[in-house]
Amino acid sequence: MKNVVIVSSSLHAISSSKLICEKIKEGLEDNGNQVKFVDLKDVDLKFCIGCLACQKTGKCVINDDVKNYLDDISNSDVLIFASPIYYYSITGQLKTFLDRLNPLYIRENKFKKIYLVATCADTDENAINGSVEAIQGFVNCFDGVEFGGYFLGTGIEQATDLDGTNYLENAYLFGKNI
Ligand SMILES: Cc1cc2nc3c(=O)[nH]c(=O)nc-3n(C[C@H](O)[C@H](O)[C@H](O)COP(=O)(O)O)c2cc1C
Repeated sequence: MKNVVIVSSSLHAISSSKLICEKIKEGLEDNGNQVKFVDLKDVDLKFCIGCLACQKTGKCVINDDVKNYLDDISNSDVLIFASPIYYYSITGQLKTFLDRLNPLYIRENKFKKIYLVATCADTDENAINGSVEAIQGFVNCFDGVEFGGYFLGTGIEQATDLDGTNYLENAYLFGKNI
C-alpha cells in the first residue's frame, strides 16, 4: 500500500487534466493505495517571497493553506503533479506550489517517485518536454527521488475533447500500474 498525493493545478471548472487525475486516483485506490487529492483551484496559495527562513525552520512564514499539505506531502510515497501545458511548461499555479514546498528541502521526506500528468491542445507528444524539465528540476533537488514518468493527453483544449478518446481508460490503468 502506498500513500499518494495528487496535486491538480488547472483552474478550469471542468478540467481535462483533473478528470484524468481522478481516473488515476480510481486506479490507485482499486489497488489498495491511499490517495489524497489537492485541487489548487480551492487552495489559498501565495507566491514564495524567497526569504529562505524555511531552510532554517522547516516552516514557511506565509500564512495560507500550504501549511495544511506539507506533512501529507512529506509523508507520502508518491507525488503526482498535474498541469495543463501553458507555454510549453507547467502552469504558474503549479510552479508557485512547488516553490512553496521549499520547507521540505531540509526535511527527511518519504517520497521517492514523482509523476507528471498533463494535457495540451498540441497534438505533438514533444509538447510535454518543457513540463517534464520543470518537474525534473524539482525532483533533482531531493536526494533519492526519481521522476517516475508522465501521462499526457494531446489534442485536448477542454474537458469535452476527452470524449471519444481512450485517455480516461488509460489513466485508470496508469494509476493501477503505479
Ligand atoms: C495561457 C495558456 C497557455 C497555453 N499554452 C499552450 C501551449 O503552449 N501548448 C499547447 O498545446 N496548449 C496550450 N494551452 C492549451 C491548454 O494546455 C489546454 O487547453 C489544456 O488541455 C487545458 O487543460 P485543463 O482543462 O486541465 O485546464 C494553453 C492554454 C492557456 C490558457
